[in-house]
Amino acid sequence: MVISQIGVIGAGQMGNGIAHVMALADYDVIIADVSQEHLVSATRKIAQNLDRQVIAKKISKSQREKALEKIKTTVDLGKVAKTDLIIEAVNEDEELKRKIFHSLMPHLDQHTILASNTSSISITRLASCTDRPEKFLGFHFMNPVPIMQLVELIPGIATNQKTFDECKLVVDRLGKTVARSEDFPAFIVNRILIPMINEAIYTLYEGVGSVEAIDTSLKLGANHPMGPLELADFIGLDTCLAIMNVLHEGLADTKYRPCPLLTKYVEAGWLGRKSKRGFYDYRIGDPLPTR
Ligand code: CAA
Repeated sequence: MVISQIGVIGAGQMGNGIAHVMALADYDVIIADVSQEHLVSATRKIAQNLDRQVIAKKISKSQREKALEKIKTTVDLGKVAKTDLIIEAVNEDEELKRKIFHSLMPHLDQHTILASNTSSISITRLASCTDRPEKFLGFHFMNPVPIMQLVELIPGIATNQKTFDECKLVVDRLGKTVARSEDFPAFIVNRILIPMINEAIYTLYEGVGSVEAIDTSLKLGANHPMGPLELADFIGLDTCLAIMNVLHEGLADTKYRPCPLLTKYVEAGWLGRKSKRGFYDYRIGDPLPTR
């Protein structure tokens, strides 16, 4: 099978990034979301991010125009069902993901591959609620999608090699690199990255360092492009907490317990950049530490 049409479910940060890179690689893309407003802002965001790439001379103006023409949007989930590969990229909410796969199933073509951009949830478990576990896999992009070179591909217990190989060809066409991960909680990147972020939050919670000291330490002391608290705000504190919970429950090891301060920020609705407040306050001017 030659994959030419891609369905993306969810018009958030990851969904719009996935649509962006797929369209630039000449795939026909359709993004579905329950909210027309989210679709409009996703299209606007894609246009802005393409502009950044034009300004940086990474792509030409005509590539930008062509990519935008390749992207359609819909509030009707059934409309993505006829594509060759569907990548679900909604929040880290297992119930919601299951509901989406359930609603898609009656409309799907037989050949369609189903994938989830989940950052931590079991692919085997998600696949088991569909009619095609052999054509289901984890397709995990990193944020910001247009910049980050890695895609984790995660076969579930039933995923066949053909599905894996077809998805690897898609990643090759995007000019990105595949890391194959076995299906265990949070896979490879988040198994390592999110506990590091959680530890940075414990370091703050226990008063070892301030927000600034912790971020400066990792930026200048370990050459990380962003400090761990800045990165937590970038990823979303709700996502970080959801991943820690998956690790804690899935591996039953206390070393993965989420820091109470992370839970408190999420309970306050301080989710990082997307809500304009997290470990930094983004509401006016330069971000200011909130502790
Ligand atoms: N789309 C297109 N281009 C973008 C972009 C986007 N969304 N975001 C940034 N860029 C471009 C900019 O235009 C700029 O291009 P040039 O260098 O060609 O001018 C370049 O990227 C750098 O951007 P900035 O100058 O604005 O900012 P920066 O130098 O501070 O870099 C960053 C920003 C690339 C995000 C960098 O800080 C970084 O690499 N941070 C770490 C990101 C990271 O770790 N991501 C993984 C998160 S974990 C994850 O995603 C997994 C999960 O499931 C939670």
